[in-house]
Amino acid sequence: MATLFKDVFILDGSRLHAERVHLLVSKGRIAEIKDYRETPPSADKIISGRGKMAVIPGFVNAHTHAAMVLLRGLGEEAPLMDWLQNKIWPVEDKLTPDYIYWGTLSAILEMLSTGTTCFADMYFEMERVAEAVLNTGMRAALSRGINQGEPGKIERSLENNINLAKKYHGREGLITVQLGPHAPYTVPLDSMKMISQAAKDNDLGIHFHYLETEGEKNSLPENYLEQAGLLGVPHLTLAHSVYLDPDIKINFDNITLVHCPNSNLKLGSGIMPLNSWLDRDVSVALGTDGASSNNKLDMWDEMRVTALLHKGVNKDPVIIPAIDVLRMATYEGAKAFGFSQKGMINEGWAADLVLVDLDKPHYIGVNNENLGVYLVYAGSSADVAGTMVNGKWLYLRGNYPTLDHDEIISKALEAREAITK
Ligand code: NI
Repeated sequence: MATLFKDVFILDGSRLHAERVHLLVSKGRIAEIKDYRETPPSADKIISGRGKMAVIPGFVNAHTHAAMVLLRGLGEEAPLMDWLQNKIWPVEDKLTPDYIYWGTLSAILEMLSTGTTCFADMYFEMERVAEAVLNTGMRAALSRGINQGEPGKIERSLENNINLAKKYHGREGLITVQLGPHAPYTVPLDSMKMISQAAKDNDLGIHFHYLETEGEKNSLPENYLEQAGLLGVPHLTLAHSVYLDPDIKINFDNITLVHCPNSNLKLGSGIMPLNSWLDRDVSVALGTDGASSNNKLDMWDEMRVTALLHKGVNKDPVIIPAIDVLRMATYEGAKAFGFSQKGMINEGWAADLVLVDLDKPHYIGVNNENLGVYLVYAGSSADVAGTMVNGKWLYLRGNYPTLDHDEIISKALEAREAITK
């Protein structure tokens, strides 16, 4: 089935300006883009934009823990270690596979309605998360969070993560799998070396929390990544990296940093020196982190805060242009997690798209030259009219064609009550 976006603006992180076009989606891909003054291609379904709608690539939330929506609001306004050890981990112990399944679906409702088409999830019971993703039809990069506990726990979790990869990596083109050692403070160095080796042996990437807080930096050697064998893995995604030194002498070709500004602000962790990384041409994606440290799963918020925060901190209104932020929120995340031809609007690329309604007061004055700044500074997820993955609507004007919204909310609520009583 072909869908035509007739007379819409298109913009992605590689374009200086938006273009006004007809865009045809067929067989899950962007089949044709042509000027809006030409005759539109024929299609089964037509979305009529009348120059008052935009199509942008779907957001890739490059670091989250989806089912943590069930823990939102718990232990608010506490420092990271106190929050984790005393508020979060005891409640997480009560999570069952079913709770994680419904919690993940509830997070998916939230992500789809805000324009996210792909998320990188590190948690546990990941087979159930994979099931939620496949039932929905969205994309995800999944890693089993690995951390220490009783003897043998790390080895068992690693085996579980590798089995997850064997079963789901590449499945329906929707899922990729990475190994998910939690952080240096929850995985001893020897175990990290073992996990790095397993990543190389199985040709898998690693998704890892690194240098989120200042305390972590003080307790680790500067060459930790090298020592732990992490530099040789097929791809390394470092969440947070607030305290990673931008002058560090390593090769970043296979490394992506994930900037999570709202989570870092809320937990009082600090601010990543983003402009130094971009000056160095290092890939940086954006993530929300879990909903219990953000507390949203809304990439529009990450974009706006990213674009504002660094200008303020550096007293420089020129750095971190809106279009770079859009690229970080889309293409960079897709690339980091092995999704090729996703995150830009090009013919032949995957139709993972967000339909944005520009027929609103805060878009008065928008045109092809300023659409990027309108989206990042004036726009919000309230402008999302539809979210499409692989050419299929997963969210359209308040409806979720592949999901039962009411059932998900009621099951997630049951889970929340059970884990907090
Ligand atoms: Ni995290």
